[in-house]
Amino acid sequence: MAVDQLNLDNAHARIQAADSLDALESLRVALLGKQGVLTAELKRLGGLSPEQRKQQGEAINRLKGEVGHALAVRREVLEAEVLARRLATERVDVTLPGRDAGVGGLHPVSRALERITDIFARFGYDVAEGPEVEDDWHNFEALNFPPDHPARAMHDTFYFPDGRLLRTHTSPVQIRAMAGRQPPLRLIAPGKVYRSDSDQTHSPMFHQVEGLVVGEGITLADLKGTLAAFLRGFFERDFEMRFKPTYFPFVEPGADVVIRWQLPDGGSRWLEVLGAGMVHPAVLRNCGIDPERYSGFAFGMGVERLAMLRYGVTDLRAFFENDVRFLGQFR
Ligand code: PHE
Repeated sequence: MAVDQLNLDNAHARIQAADSLDALESLRVALLGKQGVLTAELKRLGGLSPEQRKQQGEAINRLKGEVGHALAVRREVLEAEVLARRLATERVDVTLPGRDAGVGGLHPVSRALERITDIFARFGYDVAEGPEVEDDWHNFEALNFPPDHPARAMHDTFYFPDGRLLRTHTSPVQIRAMAGRQPPLRLIAPGKVYRSDSDQTHSPMFHQVEGLVVGEGITLADLKGTLAAFLRGFFERDFEMRFKPTYFPFVEPGADVVIRWQLPDGGSRWLEVLGAGMVHPAVLRNCGIDPERYSGFAFGMGVERLAMLRYGVTDLRAFFENDVRFLGQFR
């Protein structure tokens, strides 16, 4: 194409007609690019006489400048249009509520543990702790489970090769608390315990709170009164409570404590909530306490079980899955 054919009107018209930045860019390449029309014209100057070269060269360069200017002006218009479209469609609604940072909360088992310890603190109980890796003496033998006693089979114990074990209950803490100390004693022992058991209502690790009171003239009536007051405080409601005779090696007599639990349909059923009893004289003797002078009571409860009842949770495993949709309900 000769320079004179490529008149300005033609170039201007095509630039004005470019309706997108892409179309404009294609046009710029066609006009000014390395393979473009004007570049081709410039390359041909070499074959001309000096006179013609000067004349033609000036014309081409002027045209180049004008086309470049027209392209830049059109580009600004198109860019302004693109921006206007984005502003119209991508509007930020500043009235929308902000994103919630999310407030954490205590785990339901921690909350139940806190409720239990708070209530017994008000009753004047100390909190005692002991190791989770125990020896046979503290977990069994001192608690009146002789070697090979069948009651050991109830505990599904995790053993280490050296004979130590993961404590199956927090009762060994009562042995540690009594050993080398004389009554009066009034304490609870909260903590993790382990049994080789896992289903909807059993977990290989769970939490217990054991209670122990030893002194002069401690009776079964004290135990009953204490547990009745505790259970009413914990569940914040009133109900009948019964002691059902049962066997634990470390207490005599021993009882499963049951309460009459109101069901949503208006009925009720007896629910086991605690184990309890009067500390066995052999246990006191094992700890150097004279059973002729002192007596005591002990009780033990499963924290997850009490939390399930209080918060209406039906599957124990929900406590250990850490699903925030479940945990968030207890904030
Ligand atoms: N240690 C018993 C258990 O884990 C519970 C218990 C404690 C029962 C104290 C009676 C008295 O099964």
